[in-house]
Amino acid sequence: MILRFFDEISSDNTKNQVWNLLCACDNEFYPSLSSRENTSQSQLNSHDHKNKKPFSYFSSLLEQCFICAYDDENMIGFLSFIPKYSSDIYRDIGLSNYVSTICVDTKYRGLGITYKLYDFLFSKIPNQYCLSYVTTRTWSLNDYHIKALHKMRFVIHATLKNHRGQGIDTVYFKKKIDFTDN
Ligand SMILES: CC(C)(COP(=O)(O)OP(=O)(O)OC[C@H]1O[C@@H](n2cnc3c(N)ncnc32)[C@H](O)[C@@H]1OP(=O)(O)O)[C@@H](O)C(=O)NCCC(=O)NCCS
Repeated sequence: MILRFFDEISSDNTKNQVWNLLCACDNEFYPSLSSRENTSQSQLNSHDHKNKKPFSYFSSLLEQCFICAYDDENMIGFLSFIPKYSSDIYRDIGLSNYVSTICVDTKYRGLGITYKLYDFLFSKIPNQYCLSYVTTRTWSLNDYHIKALHKMRFVIHATLKNHRGQGIDTVYFKKKIDFTDN
């Protein structure tokens, strides 16, 4: 497996591979990506878009940086992040690299690809993108992602109770990057 960084996705082939992975994972997200307008919207409790494709989400995704994992030339996973992200919820930590989306091809799950994508973000992105914090959010029932985040020493920054429906919280995470480790 190899990893590649893109600060912009310009080739049609790469766009298509991201689109295919995104569509394949769409309904695993809660709520589905096709029901969202963009990658960081605050209102996340609508569920009435069952047969749609994630067009709006995809176009907002293409404005981000990507770390993509390949088996030969096949994209088998990607992590997208918004560099220099700021929002009210993270006001006290300033700018961060905000991971908006991770998708791994179902055939390649459980092989540690998520850890490798994050590790690249922590230590191998070009210097001009390095920041003191990496942040992300997920929903409280996303066990595999949350397990991986805790193992990588992310800590919970904030929790919005029942934000995605009864019993489904939105959990905001952060991790301080120690550049002396790199
Ligand atoms: C969440 C997701 C990215 C994890 O990808 P992955 O590459 O399979 O994750 P990893 O192999 O790095 O594993 C992370 C942890 O989850 C566990 N895990 C992942 N898939 C698993 C499975 N099917 N069964 C049991 N455990 C699993 C791994 O064992 C690992 O835990 P460990 O360190 O204790 O062994 C992937 O399931 C996915 O694409 N899901 C749909 C989209 C999504 O939820 N994205 C995250 C929100 S943005």
